[in-house]
Amino acid sequence: MRILAIETSCDDTAIALVEIRGNLLSKSRSASWRIKILKNLVSSQIKLHRPYGGVVPMLAKREHEKNLPKILNQIKSASRRIKLKIDEIAVTVGPGLEPALWSGITFAKDLAKKFNKPLIGANHLEGHLYSFLLSQKVSSSKFKVQSSKLFPAIALIVSGGHTILVLMKSLIQWKKLGETRDDAVGEAFDKVARMLNLSYPGGPELEKLAKRGNPKAINFPRPMLKDKNYDFSFSGLKTAVLYYLRDNPRFLPADVAASFQQAAIDVLAGKTLNAIKEFGAESVLIAGGVAANKKLREIMKLETKKLELNFFAPPAKLNTDNAAMIAVAAYFQKLRKKNHRLEAQSNLNL
Ligand code: KG4
Ligand code: ZN
Repeated sequence: MRILAIETSCDDTAIALVEIRGNLLSKSRSASWRIKILKNLVSSQIKLHRPYGGVVPMLAKREHEKNLPKILNQIKSASRRIKLKIDEIAVTVGPGLEPALWSGITFAKDLAKKFNKPLIGANHLEGHLYSFLLSQKVSSSKFKVQSSKLFPAIALIVSGGHTILVLMKSLIQWKKLGETRDDAVGEAFDKVARMLNLSYPGGPELEKLAKRGNPKAINFPRPMLKDKNYDFSFSGLKTAVLYYLRDNPRFLPADVAASFQQAAIDVLAGKTLNAIKEFGAESVLIAGGVAANKKLREIMKLETKKLELNFFAPPAKLNTDNAAMIAVAAYFQKLRKKNHRLEAQSNLNL
């Protein structure tokens, strides 16, 4: 099945063409499958939003509307070589910024009409959840979902808008264990980066700066780490950094960055480890923009290795928003014979 997927939930305009062969939900041990990304284009609006220090929804919408036809043309011209054959069209319907979501949905509806193909509405968070299937170790090998001891799995989705811990019993059955009660962890990275005068989006910049700092220099709080639940809170940590900067005018930015990053990662890793133990997990998945953070990946890899568990994370480029993951979410949507309403659902949940 070839899926042309469109993602415009925030500030990335993305279109991907993905081929998925076989049935990932097949119970047969000999079943094989393959996910091949034929084309994956992302046009970032970072420069446009940078002066505002965050994403401006109406600007994002306008930019998506301008970029979508351009990106589709790029795919079309490249597709002469790979033969543009599409079976389904998929689009993110939520969660995200409503005006931004609508630009993708309207574009996808027109395309579906033009190509006379079915249109699948996909959940952005499911896209992140499934993005581990796009990693080489999984998608290009004879990796067997059924015979590998994959589940139960604990998935940590960490992005600019979400921080969610999920217990997966199978590829299509899961339960949300907890989520942030205030800021998402990516949002905290972005806000602390701004306090340190780093440019937007701050996550990658803060990580770069943190490399030169001492993560033990400042003992920032680890909010809710000791609580017996799987919820998170990052706004207190952010405020602790703000007060530290106010009270220590001669602060060392690299030490602040490294100590903040360490505190945030300690909470993420600590809660994930608690869930692994409580639910006897066989695997851990991390996804979302913050999962691009090398320190977080290293720690999760190390901890899962110690416990002899599988560890999956999408390749670095596919942690942040992209349309390839939306194609995979739509594929499962199709297998489950379910579809989302084809309208912007800014608060759609997992
Ligand atoms: O998944 P994503 O692209 O968009 C949302 O769905 O939100 O995530 C974007 C978030 C931003 O907050 C960004 O600062 C953060 O991911 N991020 C990082 C890193 N790369 C991106 N945070 C920490 N370290 C990184 N290397
Ligand atoms: Zn995202």
